[in-house]
Formats: sequence, structure tokens, C-alpha cells
Amino acid sequence: MKKIAIVGAGGIAHYHIKGFRAAGADVVAIVDINQELSKEFADKYNIKYTFKKIDDCLEVFKDLDGVSVAVPNAFHKSIVINALEKGLSVFCEKPPALNAKEMYEIELAYKNSGKLLMFDFNNRAREESQILKHYINSDKSFKTNSAQAYWVRRNGIPGIGGWFTNKKISGGGPAIDLIHMLDLSLYFMSYPKPKVIMASSNDDFMGNKCFKGPWGIADNSKGITDVESAIQAFITFDNGSSLILRNSWAELIEREKAGVCFQGNHFGGLMERLFGIDGIDETSTDICKIFTYELDHQVDKDIKFIPDFAMGREASASNFIESLEGKAEPLNKPEEAVILMEIVDAIYESAKTGLPIIMENK
Ligand SMILES: NC(=O)c1ccc[n+]([C@@H]2O[C@H](COP(=O)([O-])OP(=O)(O)OC[C@H]3O[C@@H](n4cnc5c(N)ncnc54)[C@H](O)[C@@H]3O)[C@@H](O)[C@H]2O)c1
Repeated sequence: MKKIAIVGAGGIAHYHIKGFRAAGADVVAIVDINQELSKEFADKYNIKYTFKKIDDCLEVFKDLDGVSVAVPNAFHKSIVINALEKGLSVFCEKPPALNAKEMYEIELAYKNSGKLLMFDFNNRAREESQILKHYINSDKSFKTNSAQAYWVRRNGIPGIGGWFTNKKISGGGPAIDLIHMLDLSLYFMSYPKPKVIMASSNDDFMGNKCFKGPWGIADNSKGITDVESAIQAFITFDNGSSLILRNSWAELIEREKAGVCFQGNHFGGLMERLFGIDGIDETSTDICKIFTYELDHQVDKDIKFIPDFAMGREASASNFIESLEGKAEPLNKPEEAVILMEIVDAIYESAKTGLPIIMENK
């Protein structure tokens, strides 16, 4: 039975523990600088040990197999590297780091450790993602020409003045926070090498309470709000394919939606969640489709699947345990996180300068 400690007792940690336990792991400790929160978490899930710092936890548990990192983004790097250097495997929340420079340091520690390092790109763990990937992998001559990835929200700022809106702690707004669909589209495209990136952004409605999400963390009227509210990007790749990306926390659109659509040489695919008014309610829908032609006819296939309201968050944590035990392939690799962070950096740079970023010059 794998022994795991979770660092961070906030919102996402609840999915981690459920996923770890579902895969048969023993969550032996919860670590949080906020002792009240870690005690509350420990009581809820019947965990015996709470700690303020991961090093105190490691003093007690010399036989830990892994650590999950569920703290604000600015603290990912130091906790991940520390754990890898101490010989532990790591499951770290998204985004992997604040920027590519941090990710290079993490990658180096990972390579030196020989341990498992995975990031929580939980949308890959959704059934419909795996079905689309199965179609792609089953066609040896399949080629993606283009894709569109989006996670756009009408009113979805996750706490005004909290850490999410503070660039120093979060790394940025929706470009980095809603990284999921960018990752998922690249997963479907088999992670081609980015060539040129152009982007624009705006910060309309940031700080406007009317655009706060129905979830996230509490507002802080004394906090900092210095990130973008929406980005648009166009990315070309060295294999000739391209991607259009839209991410937003606050935009005047019909409703929140998140999805990936791709167009290939033999078929196209789409998976999309249309969110309800209150995030996920009875008006929320999930679809997954294949667009193809057969016997000289245009054909659409509706893929049947069981929608996962948690968007793969528990399944992704389970995959970490199953990968540790050698029972499953890890759903993502650190080298993909490097490409992802390079893209995020370029999006911010292009949005700031108004110029295209040529990736080979970086
Ligand atoms: N995969 C997803 O769908 C998803 C969803 C939400 C958040 N996240 C990610 O999860 C991470 C945490 O987000 P959250 O929403 O749970 O935030 P949160 O603010 O609810 O919780 C973060 C917790 O970390 C604790 N903390 C802060 N610094 C710490 C440190 N150095 N050591 C120990 N504990 C520390 C805080 O006290 C807090 O309890 C972020 O990286 C975020 O981007 C991922």
C-alpha cells in the first residue's frame, strides 16, 4: 500500500484524497501552514497526522512513497524539488510552475531523482478524453491539422484579491490557471513543438464583483488584482499544425464552456462541457463527437460516455497511485510540462509586446 502525504488542505486537496484512496493508497498526513485547515481536513477524512511543514512530516514518516502538492502556484517549485531530492515521487497540481525557468529547475531535479513526477492535468483522465485519444492512437497515419482549445467564463474570477489574482503567487490569470484545455489539445496533437506564438489579452472586469465565480476562494478587498481576465492566442507548430486558444475568467459571452475541437486528415473530434449557471447544475451538458466520412457519406459519431462532474480530478489522482504501483501508464510526462510552460511564457510575452514570439529564438 503506497503511503502518501498531501501538502495543502484547500479546495483541490479534497479530490486528491478521494482519488488516492480509491486507488488503495494510505494518506498518512496532511500538511498545511494553516493548522486550523489541516485539522479540519484531517477530521473530515480521518487522517491521524497533521503538520505545518513538509520537512516535519518527512521526519516522522521515513517511508513515504509520494507527496501531492496542492498549494498556490508560487510554492509548487520548492516543494516539488525538495520532495524529489528526498527520494519521493510527486503528484503536483497544475500549473506545473510559475514559468518555464522554474519548470527547467523542476525537470532537472526530476531527472536526478529517478522518481515519478506527474502533474494534475486531470482533464486527460476523463473518459471522453481517453476515448478520443484511443481513436487517435488507433489510426497509425492520423495527423492533426488544427485544433481549437477554450475554457471561457462569463463570470468566473476565482476570488478577487485572493492568491489567484496576484501574479506573484499565481503566475497570471486564466492563461496559466485554465491551462487544462491547452494541455488537452496538445495531448490529442501528440505534443508537437511550438514554432510561432501570437497572443493578446485584456483585464476588463478584473476586480468587478459581478464577475466573480460561484466557487473559488474568498475575496480579499486588501488583496492584489494584477492579472489578465482573458487571453487569445494563435500557435503554429513545426509539423505544420496550428492551435487557437481562448481562456477567460470574465468575458461577455453566453455561458461558461470548456472544450477541445480538432481537425485531422481522417477524422475530427470534439469534446465540450457547457457549464450551467451555477457552475455545474442540471443545465450543464457534456458532449463528445467524431466527425468523419464513410462509404462516401459525411458521418458524425456521438460517443457515449459517463460525464464526470469532477472533470477527472479523482481519476487523475488515482492514476498517480496506479502509475507508482506499475499498474498504469502515467497520464502525463514532465517534458510535456516544459513545453506547456514555454507556451504560457510566450503567450504572456506576445500579449505584452504585441509581437509574435519565434520559439526557436528563445
Ligand atoms: N486541477 C484542478 O482542476 C484545480 C482546481 C483548483 C485548483 N487547482 C490548483 O491547486 C492548487 C491549490 O489550489 P486550491 O484551489 O486548492 O487553493 P486553496 O487556496 O483553496 O488552498 C491552498 C492551501 O495551501 C495552503 N498553503 C499555502 N502555502 C503553503 C505552503 N507553503 N505549505 C503548505 N501549505 C500551504 C493554504 O493554507 C491553503 O490551505 C493550485 O496550484 C491551483 O492552481 C487545480
